[in-house]
Amino acid sequence: MREIKINETTWYVGANDRKTPLFENNWPLPYGVSYNSYLINDSKTALIDGIEFGSDPDYLQKIKKILNGKKLDYLVINHMEPDHSGMISSIAAEYPGIKIVGNNQTARILKLYYNYNETDFHPVADADELSLGNTTLKFYMVPWVHWPETMVTYNVTDKILFSCDAFGGFGTLDGSIYDTENNLHEHYISEMRRYYSNIVAKYSGMVQKALAKLSGVEIKMICPSHGLIWKNPADVVGLYDRWSRHEAENEITIAYASMYGNTEHIADHIGSLLGEKGYRVHTYDVSKTHVSYILSMIWKCKAVLLGTCAYNGFMHPMMEHLCNEIRIAQPKEKIFGIFGSSSWNGAGVKNLIKFMEENNLQALPAAAELSGSFAPEKIGESAVKLVEEVDKAIKSWK
Ligand code: FEO
Repeated sequence: MREIKINETTWYVGANDRKTPLFENNWPLPYGVSYNSYLINDSKTALIDGIEFGSDPDYLQKIKKILNGKKLDYLVINHMEPDHSGMISSIAAEYPGIKIVGNNQTARILKLYYNYNETDFHPVADADELSLGNTTLKFYMVPWVHWPETMVTYNVTDKILFSCDAFGGFGTLDGSIYDTENNLHEHYISEMRRYYSNIVAKYSGMVQKALAKLSGVEIKMICPSHGLIWKNPADVVGLYDRWSRHEAENEITIAYASMYGNTEHIADHIGSLLGEKGYRVHTYDVSKTHVSYILSMIWKCKAVLLGTCAYNGFMHPMMEHLCNEIRIAQPKEKIFGIFGSSSWNGAGVKNLIKFMEENNLQALPAAAELSGSFAPEKIGESAVKLVEEVDKAIKSWK
């Protein structure tokens, strides 16, 4: 991707990645991902965040072209995860003596990943400033958004926030790098929610703290390290605020694991009863749909119904996988319901209940369960009761 001028001093020098199939070797990237990197060319020069190693063979060339013979003075490392720090060694080799700007936690993690000269480290603490000439950078610590060392960099002069993972999203930058020039509703917003629920959600409490810390800062533009650059920062701040407060729609996610179709039939039966009550229902087979998308929909919906068949005395392994991701992401303010089928011991539903209890998740009392093959009359009253409880819980939600 070519370099793009953002204003008189600031350039976009990031990369689109459409080759990597799984982000963190875990999350699907059907629309790819971008690693955003920014170069400030003032009296002094600073690169803010890097890109994943190997994602753009022209990266150093682009920087060299913009600097036009000047040296690179600073490399600001907002976050040490290798999708942003992977080029540190190459950058340091190209610009000997470059100062790496980070906080005490950055220094600790930097040592674990890369060889670097400690005298080349420029430590900063919360609210410290760095002058590049006309441009002044100010650093705010936002730990755990997404690692303990994470910070954001604020260009005081131009009122631009370089936010790293915060306010990021999946999806490459196609045709334009700006929110104002992309059709946000085509896939960007749902890809952002998927990114949030997959990568950042576990740290929602820390996102709220970061938003509170930055609430008094005037921001004209947000430049994250993944996804769109926001000329309308209020839009993306609003989305992150909503997601980190666990606000959801009156919609329902149903996720099921089924070997021979009986649990699937229960899922559809319950789904149609909820549909008749006017709810929008999103139903997933956990063996078919990657957990990444199910988590994202869970973040969108107020109610989540999980169903499984029994499997060797446990729940189905793919439902176990979803439960593990729920345990990690810690969605809050949800109405959970349980259903399932078994052949002799009811181990699926029993283990889903155990999962809820062990993770302090409140499940509605009316689990819908049947033994053997599905028939509407076999699940009958228990499905009706579960649906009534979901309906009542959503309607009485404050
Ligand atoms: Fe985009 Fe946490 O790294």
